[in-house]
Formats: sequence, C-alpha cells, structure tokens
Amino acid sequence: MLEKEGHKIETQVDSEILAHLIEKFYEGDLEEAVMKALSYTEGTFGIAVMHKDEERIVAARRGSPLVIGIGDGELFVASDVSAILNHTKKVIYLNDNEIATINNTHCVIKNLGGEILTKKVDEIQWTIDTIEKGGFKHFMLKEIFEQPKAIANTLRGRISDSGVKLSLNFNVKDVKRIVITSCGTSWHSALIGKHFIEKLTRIPVEVDYASEFRYRHPIISKGDLVVAISQSGETADTLAAIREAKLQGATTLGIVNVVGSTIAREVDCGIYLHAGPEMGVASTKAFTCQLVALLLLALHIKQGRGEILDKDLLADIQNLPQLVEKTLNDGKTIFDVAEEFKDSKDFLYLGRGINFPVALEGALKLKEISYIHAEGYPAAEMKHGPIALVDSSLPVVFIAPHDAMYEKIISNMQEIKARKGKIIAISDKGDEIKNLADVVFQVPSVREELSPIINILPLQLLSYYVADAKGLDVDKPRNLAKSVTVE
Ligand code: AGP
Repeated sequence: MLEKEGHKIETQVDSEILAHLIEKFYEGDLEEAVMKALSYTEGTFGIAVMHKDEERIVAARRGSPLVIGIGDGELFVASDVSAILNHTKKVIYLNDNEIATINNTHCVIKNLGGEILTKKVDEIQWTIDTIEKGGFKHFMLKEIFEQPKAIANTLRGRISDSGVKLSLNFNVKDVKRIVITSCGTSWHSALIGKHFIEKLTRIPVEVDYASEFRYRHPIISKGDLVVAISQSGETADTLAAIREAKLQGATTLGIVNVVGSTIAREVDCGIYLHAGPEMGVASTKAFTCQLVALLLLALHIKQGRGEILDKDLLADIQNLPQLVEKTLNDGKTIFDVAEEFKDSKDFLYLGRGINFPVALEGALKLKEISYIHAEGYPAAEMKHGPIALVDSSLPVVFIAPHDAMYEKIISNMQEIKARKGKIIAISDKGDEIKNLADVVFQVPSVREELSPIINILPLQLLSYYVADAKGLDVDKPRNLAKSVTVE
C-alpha cells in the first residue's frame, strides 16, 4: 500500500514501515498520525516517535514495556525503569494499547480510541541494583522465575488454536535436511530441537558443536537449512559456522535472544526469543525459550507442508507459562536438597531420549556455577563403564518422566540403588519411586514434547541453591563470560 503511494521502502525492518505509515497519516498532528498508524498494526511494539517540526514525543506500547519518567522540568520515555532511575523516581507505567504524548512539562495519556486516561504516578522505592534484580538475590534466580513471562513473550502472536504464525522467508517445501549448530546450553537445546523436528516433520536433523562444524569441512548443499541457536547472537564459533554455511549456499536461520546482534543480522531469517535481557552467565530462561522457539519452528514447517497440526499439542503449548509457573512455585523444596548435597565432589545426571539433553544441561548448570564436577549421561550407557563410579558418596540425578521408557529408567535406577548411589529423581510419578529414590521432586505430567521444558526447572533451582549455599558468585562464576566472542 505504502509503496503504491510512493513511499520509498529501504529495508524489511518493521520499524521503518511504521515510520512510513505515520508519515502517510501526518497532517500536522503527530499524536493523531501515530494513533491512526497503530490501528493498522498487529503484534508487539514499544515505540517513541518524534517529528522535526514538533517539540514533543509520542510513545505507545503493545506487549513491550514502556514507562514515562516525571522529572523536574523534564520528562522521559524508557522501556525499563532502570534506565531513568538516576533522573527521577516518579514513573507512570503505560499499559498495552495506550499512547503517551509528552513535552518537557506535560504528559497526556490516551487509549488508541483517543479517550484521555487518568494514570497513577508511582514512586519507585528501589535502588538501581534491586530494580535490575527485581528484588531477587541474583539475576539468575530472577531469570529462573521470569520463565513463565519469557515463554509467554516467545509465544506472543505466534500460536493459536488453529496453528502457528512465524514470518520466515524460506520455502519449507524445499528443505531436505536441517543442521543445527550452536555451543553450550544452546547446543543442548539443539539436541532437543532434533527430537521435535524429526518427530513432527520427519526431516533429518544433524546437530553439531559450532566449534567442530566450522573446521570439519561440513558437507552443505542448497536444500539444507542451517539453524544457529545463540542467546547472545555474538558467539564467535556459532557466527563462523553460519558464515561457512552461507558460503556453501545453505539457507540460514537464527534463534537468537539479543535483538540486532551479529548472528541475528547475518542469517537469512530468524526467530527472536523476546525473553528479555539474560544477565546471569548461566543460561536459564533463554534455554527454555529456545525450546519453545524450536517447537514453533517444527510446527511451522509441518504446517507449511500442508500437514494437520495436533490441536491438543497447540493447546498444551499455549498453557506452558502456567505449567512452568506451577512447577517453579513447587520448587522451594529443592532448597533443602541443595543443603544436603552441596559438599559432594561429583554428580551424575541421567536421562533418556528427549530428556538425555536435559541431563547434559542440568550437569552444565551445576558445574558452571558451583564448580562441582558433574556429568550428564544417557541412563542406559551406565553399564558401559560409568557405573564403576557409583558408590554411596555419589549423588545421581535421574530425569524420569512417565513416558515410553519409564520402566527402563526405573531399572537403571535399581542398578544405581544396588550400588548405594544417592538418587535424586525428577518425575511426574513421584509416589511410585519414593522407595527407590532418596529425594523425589514431583513435576506436572506433560506430553513428551514439553517434558524437557518442565524437567529442567528443578535442575536450574538445584544448581542455583547449591552454588548460593557455597557462597559463590552465582551471576559471575569464575573463568566464564556471558558471551564467548573469542575462539
Ligand atoms: C550456558 O549456561 C553457558 N553460559 C554457555 O554454555 C552458553 O550457553 C554458550 O556460551 C552459548 O552462548 P550463546 O547461546 O550466547 O551462543
């Protein structure tokens, strides 16, 4: 519409389209033009608009936070209180579909229908530090408990009872093979993504450490979709892997949290997590949001190939934020377990199938913030060597959902029990294994596709409480950086 009316569109960025739309409606009143333009929009936005001929700012939001700061002879617009707390403690929070027009002395807030609203001015009692941690002791704990909201943001505007909606500019019918390349926690989510995509689409998926992929002269062809998963979007190995894949003619897709990061800008298309900033070095909310994004991608491909989506699966995914909230709120009991095991020298984490990568991720969480050696293993692999490690001093964490392999993991548990290993079990069938496990953390029963997102939650809390009980710097563990931008 805009191009037909002579607007010269330079990019694919939705912010630019919005600017042209406001220009289309501008007849000397910026607030009115913004209001009209926003009635054409769908999805999430948090915007501040200025016009060179007007001494005011017009701000509006839907799904992305905006706050107005009331200073002394000055007013502010920001997406988070922590950005303006050094200037004023008086703030007005905008709600969805509200528009604020401010100059240096006044603020008028209306709904998108133009009615003037009266809003309460809040007085912030917190300091910058507690604001940023939201009252939690560490960023990591805040981010663990932010997961219901973060997952809701990853899902926002992308799923309904009738299907999924992702704007990805590649033809799903052309995809013959998918390669997922990433590092660390993002590699663990890739392993789970393989289960989702192969089960739902029957397209073969390969998963590779980015640091290995980029040097093994990978065989990539035009029909390949190469997916990079990266919270920071700046991991050097993952960026190099994507560049290698593009050189060889693959279509590249990024699953990234940091908007505008290098990987996000270099891939052909992508899915932003919208999980919000993740400050703790140990990745938590980004991991579960990556899994949600991978599930959406698998459904997007299936839907795009004309296949019917399971309505119960769509409903269960939409209910995830509530399920995650419930699991976390039941998580207080993990605190006592942490006290009991915090002086252990080693841990083993065992899982099967889609939950084997959850064992890997649980082990990584523990070792990177508590410095206790921990290993994740496929439960059935124990008899091929590692079971020699088991004695009464070794805590063994089992991820034991009541799925198709439940009986097998119970026999794996019996093998450990027979050798006096201490068993910590994560299961939706807590009662049945109380006689086998020393500690059972009961989680809600969910379908297989959602079980990794639920089962990782108590393991995140276990690693946090153990590290905190040891008095360690949970948010900034030794030797680690939040984003590994070097090789
Ligand atoms: C996870 O807890 C670690 N901080 C680390 O393994 C991280 O997942 C890895 O460095 C990859 O980072 P990225 O997702 O930003 O690419």
